[in-house]
Amino acid sequence: MPIQTQSLDATSDGIAVAADLLRAGGLVGFATETVYGLGGDARNDRAVARIFAAKGRPHFNPLIVHVPDLVSALAYARFSDQALEIARAFWPGPLTLVLPLRADVGLSPLVTAGLDSVAIRVPAHPVARALLRAFDGPLAAPSANPSGRVSPTRAAHVLTGLSGRIEAVLDAGPCAVGVESTILGLVDTPQLLRPGGVPVEALEQALGHPLTTGGSAEKPNAPGQLASHYAPNAGVRLGVTAPRADELWVGFGPDCPNAALSLSASGDLVEAAANLFHILREADTGAGAGGIAFAPIPETGLGRAINDRLRRAAAPRPAEIVA
Ligand code: TXA
Ligand code: MG
Repeated sequence: MPIQTQSLDATSDGIAVAADLLRAGGLVGFATETVYGLGGDARNDRAVARIFAAKGRPHFNPLIVHVPDLVSALAYARFSDQALEIARAFWPGPLTLVLPLRADVGLSPLVTAGLDSVAIRVPAHPVARALLRAFDGPLAAPSANPSGRVSPTRAAHVLTGLSGRIEAVLDAGPCAVGVESTILGLVDTPQLLRPGGVPVEALEQALGHPLTTGGSAEKPNAPGQLASHYAPNAGVRLGVTAPRADELWVGFGPDCPNAALSLSASGDLVEAAANLFHILREADTGAGAGGIAFAPIPETGLGRAINDRLRRAAAPRPAEIVA
């Protein structure tokens, strides 16, 4: 069902409406200095699942968490002295830092795609900052374009791509930088994960040494970890309509009345995506000797991303990761 997408002016009234929509779990396109972001409450599983649905992303790649200032960022990630130095030098601005995630800080596991690191950014755009302050919480925000299309630098671009799939766009004119933020990984050795709005030379000067390149925009660093994290310890079988007696059955839809757990009893893919990482953990804890059996999930809409993640969970793990 398409929804009516509002176009809001970036006045204090428009920003207040946008913040209310976000609090209600809605999705709002908003300007940052780099590109327009598609914002949703980073603590709300359903809002984050809807971001993936609106973009039509076939994978749950991790999203950037936007916060209004460094103090807010400290709540979600662990900063080394070096990370603090870089953050103080470049925030607010077009730099995203990938840092160790603090445990149990209330971010949806969909935002981090189950990783134990988190990408955080403090945008410089005055409207982005005003929205973050009015919303008073962390916003997950990938670029506000359908998956595989170019990033939007004007509100009209956002509407062209996502009208009918998001609650509103907050129009603050064209973006000044026009390319995405630079992503610097600081989980261990500093690594350039994506070139972007902050020149690499400026980072190298601040760090005092050249940067190595790890991963790429669409393939975050250490894809093996990405695949294996949240891979349950228990064995996983997919597409199961008749589970064995020693298996914990995770259902989907109304045809699995005996399932111990369900991704969505009504067969709602957004609900299933919102539940996915929680259920993977819960099923792993409760699984018997026979492991976990997942009911079939349709290969449409968010079902593609859910199946992609479940196939990774079911895949045999490389020996070096198990060890
Ligand atoms: O300029 C920008 O950064 C824009 C504006 C809206 O802020 N946002 C943006 O988000 O480009 P997105 O979701 O399109 O890009 C997020 C990138 C992805 O390439 C993802 O792989 C990487 O960040 N990423 C996120 N969390 C990560 C993590 N824990 N480890 C490694 N890479 C991560
Ligand atoms: Mg993008």
